[in-house]
Amino acid sequence: MTEKNKNSRWIGPSILSADFAFLGAEVEALQKAGADFIHFDVMDNHFVPNLTFGPCVCRAIRPLIHVPIDVHLMTENVDKLIVDFASAGANMISVHPESTHHLSRSLKLIRSNGCEAGIVLNPGTPITYLDWIMEEIDFILVMSVNPGFGGQEFIPASEEKIKSIREKIDVFSRKRLQRIRLEVDGGIKIENAASLAACGADTFVIGSGIFDHPDTGSQFGYKKIMESFRNQLISGL
Ligand code: DX5
Ligand code: ZN
Repeated sequence: MTEKNKNSRWIGPSILSADFAFLGAEVEALQKAGADFIHFDVMDNHFVPNLTFGPCVCRAIRPLIHVPIDVHLMTENVDKLIVDFASAGANMISVHPESTHHLSRSLKLIRSNGCEAGIVLNPGTPITYLDWIMEEIDFILVMSVNPGFGGQEFIPASEEKIKSIREKIDVFSRKRLQRIRLEVDGGIKIENAASLAACGADTFVIGSGIFDHPDTGSQFGYKKIMESFRNQLISGL
């Protein structure tokens, strides 16, 4: 990762809304269009009421792209999957505190397998979860919808939550010189992206905002959409 990339705002398409029949071509097109990372939603039909893809799909797309693969685990038994996804080429892995008996152990396991570690906070999950694990994380993923599906309505209270977490990160980073990214996931559209950036988010997961956009399908569709998002994120500085 270059220093420039480390400091900029990142956009990561969530391939949950991609065309699964052409997943390889989709991730290649998204990278070409300027995606900073690819967000990979893993669901097991237990932790959330939906079922998606596992490590073998991650392994299949890994050689096609060079941007990081960000694995969002919405499953039970995360520790086994952490090891499997790390070996399948994931670069970032995040876990929900409700999905593991030992949050700190799972976060350490992510790092010891060579990936960046993230904690995911559901809309109803308090931010006090962060208090004792800041040293063990590289990013915080704030869910601005309840996990399980793409295309849901953004939950407005997420903005206050992001602001509070931004304050915590800034205080912590000043003391420890450790960068922690603040990622937001769910219901992000052109209309609310600037405001989320102004609240302090720096990493944006976008599903239906990209894949259901009217420009998708046109020859330069993804590039145009990604540029519109990037312009909004710059204006939210
Ligand atoms: C929801 C997933 C999200 C989802 C976002 O459980 O974690 O990553 O794909 O989709 P949109 O942007 O459509 O809300
Ligand atoms: Zn996600």
